[in-house]
Amino acid sequence: MRNRVFNPIGTVALVTGASSGLGAGYARELAQRGADLVLTARRQERLEGLAVELAEKYGTVSTVIPLDLAAPGGVAELVNDLHSRDITIGTLVNNAGFATSGDLVDADPARLAEEVSLNVAALTALTRALLPDLLHTSRAQPASAALVNLASTAAFQPVPGMAVYGATKAYVLSFTEALWYETRASGLKVTAICPGAVDTEFFEVAGRRPDSRRALLTVAEVMRTTFAALDRASTPPHAVSGLRNTVLAGVAGRLPHRAVVNAVGRMNRSGPTA
Ligand SMILES: NC(=O)c1ccc[n+]([C@@H]2O[C@H](COP(=O)([O-])OP(=O)(O)OC[C@H]3O[C@@H](n4cnc5c(N)ncnc54)[C@H](OP(=O)(O)O)[C@@H]3O)[C@@H](O)[C@H]2O)c1
Repeated sequence: MRNRVFNPIGTVALVTGASSGLGAGYARELAQRGADLVLTARRQERLEGLAVELAEKYGTVSTVIPLDLAAPGGVAELVNDLHSRDITIGTLVNNAGFATSGDLVDADPARLAEEVSLNVAALTALTRALLPDLLHTSRAQPASAALVNLASTAAFQPVPGMAVYGATKAYVLSFTEALWYETRASGLKVTAICPGAVDTEFFEVAGRRPDSRRALLTVAEVMRTTFAALDRASTPPHAVSGLRNTVLAGVAGRLPHRAVVNAVGRMNRSGPTA
């Protein structure tokens, strides 16, 4: 087993979107490393089921806060709830997010607004609200605190057929890398995680099927990428999950931009949709 540098034992980690997929994976991994958890998403029973599982397996104390982070006042409600319970967050995993498949002209405007609200506005507001806690924890207990933001390989180039999603993830990558720099002297571990397609409920929610020609990443693989990044003495500003995705992300930045947009558009819009 590789050397564990990131050690959140005795701290509290907040995972958004913990009711499914990658979020549940982050909660399990953080609990296994000794953190207590705040679990949030809209589906309360799922969160409570996960809390019971983590208590049984690891003795984790979980606080379940079910709410809609995309709704007006959602982030403020979460932050007020944390304050009223006197919970200081040491690790924040901004994981909740979703995509909308199809051309913009056909999309439901209300759904697009919700997507930007969750993927961009809530992530930004929650990070701003909790960053002082993260920095405080990182100073008090070195290598115990982290900010993990879920970007995507969609962050590296425009994504015709999921235009808003690609743009929100480009924002997450840019925002996180800037914070990586701003906080570099604090010891806080800051990174944007960029998976390619992962086997979760993501595609069902987006209204499309994943490309059947390519194997999906597993949640476990994305956890390995994330915690390998956190276990580095110097955590990188972003980490891509999957070798093929790492190569493609690197290539996208070197090819003529028009060719990249054309290629992604052909691939994405001719792909099978549900
Ligand atoms: N799967 C992929 O292929 C892939 C690839 C790259 C990046 N990502 C990113 O990874 C993150 C996790 O996605 P996933 O693959 O695990 O998808 P998922 O299984 O669909 O999980 C999404 C999570 O977000 C929560 N969520 C959605 N809307 C919410 C809202 N309004 N308020 C609060 N929570 C909300 C969902 O919980 P509730 O429905 O219970 O609220 C769920 O727990 C996302 O940011 C996604 O963009 C995924």
